[in-house]
Amino acid sequence: MNTNATGDSVRDRRVQYETAGLDIGDLLPDPVAQWHHWYAQAEEAGCVEPNAMVVATIDDDGLPDSRYVLARGVTDAGFVFYTNYESSKSAQLDATPRASALFTWLQIHRQMKIRGTVSRVSAAESDAYFAGRPRSSQIGAWASAQSTVLADRGELETRVADVEARFADVDAIPRPPFWGGWLINPVEAEVWQGRPSRLHDRFRYRRVDSAWITERLSP
Ligand SMILES: Cc1cc2nc3c(=O)[nH]c(=O)nc-3n(C[C@H](O)[C@H](O)[C@H](O)COP(=O)(O)O)c2cc1C
Repeated sequence: MNTNATGDSVRDRRVQYETAGLDIGDLLPDPVAQWHHWYAQAEEAGCVEPNAMVVATIDDDGLPDSRYVLARGVTDAGFVFYTNYESSKSAQLDATPRASALFTWLQIHRQMKIRGTVSRVSAAESDAYFAGRPRSSQIGAWASAQSTVLADRGELETRVADVEARFADVDAIPRPPFWGGWLINPVEAEVWQGRPSRLHDRFRYRRVDSAWITERLSP
């Protein structure tokens, strides 16, 4: 097998991170405030989907799993995303309610990691978010038994057509009972700023009682 199908381009690709550094005094006192600060700068820099985060979970065998989701609310309580409650990720979170979430803003050489405990948001909060989604996304949520096997694309399209017919006369499509939000409440976070020669700036936030401790980490 050719294990180097990309030639040397992957092995030898090197980008120098010339961005300005980060010092402990530059950090906002808690990770949520810091996230908002960096998110605004990521938006300004034109980063693609700056609210996308990779959420990592573990399954019953202890095997890690991960996937992108979109952060739809970031408050002092933590980071909220919406999904199918019967999906693989939700089954994993029901069994082990802990997760890590990673934001990457590569254009500005930054990443931010959150680790924390996970809980479902209230039904009222999920209802409110669902109500504001485009109708086609609402239909998609009803139609997709997320993470289950489909025979083919046609099966999904048939399910969509069935849902469209079912709600044809309904103005406000209700939230499916199997769909809603998860909240990741951080107990730890890390900000990473790329610097030249791989001597990056890293800081960890650790929650101790109700206070946040920040420490510089080796890159
Ligand atoms: C940029 C991006 C954003 C996504 N946002 C979501 C999301 O907010 N909610 C969601 O359920 N899936 C989202 N997905 C799809 C997930 O990555 C994943 O395929 C799906 O949720 C099923 O995951 P699971 O089988 O691990 O539960 C997104 C994918 C990408 C690439």
